[in-house]
Amino acid sequence: MSGDVIELILADHRRFEDLFRQLRDNSADQRAALRDLSALLVAHAEAEESEVYPALRRFDDVDDHEVEHGAEEHAEGHQALLALLEVADPAAEEWDEKLEDLVKAVNHHLDEEERTILNSARDSVPDQRRAELGEKFLTARQFALDAGCGDVAHVRDLVEQTKDRVD
Ligand SMILES: [Fe+2]
Ligand SMILES: [Fe+2]
Repeated sequence: MSGDVIELILADHRRFEDLFRQLRDNSADQRAALRDLSALLVAHAEAEESEVYPALRRFDDVDDHEVEHGAEEHAEGHQALLALLEVADPAAEEWDEKLEDLVKAVNHHLDEEERTILNSARDSVPDQRRAELGEKFLTARQFALDAGCGDVAHVRDLVEQTKDRVD
């Protein structure tokens, strides 16, 4: 699998939305959907922060502040993810509330990232560079997935490390 980094990121965003539908559907395997979402959400954010954001901020059209804000929103998303992972049981009373907090935090971030960082990158980053970044993004994302990045212990560490980013 290879391709334009923007298209790869957008494909993951649509996958998150699909997993949110499964997480809300009590006839679906909600535990499996939570495992998949947790791994993919963390791997995606880590790959954006390690490979994509630092490269994009070198382009004038991409606003440094938007990039920093993106990383803050990842930290907020991870905090909401941890709260749902700690509920763990789709039949538990707090499941719906924690799920909706997570959906809200992540959807807000996806929308903002698409409208600001990704739109600016589409206008200013050449195709060749976008393809190179696509490859780096996928490698970093796979590395995180292979390391079990969605496990509750790792998400807890991440929340601990980045809690100063969240107000
Ligand atoms: Fe993203
Ligand atoms: Fe992001």
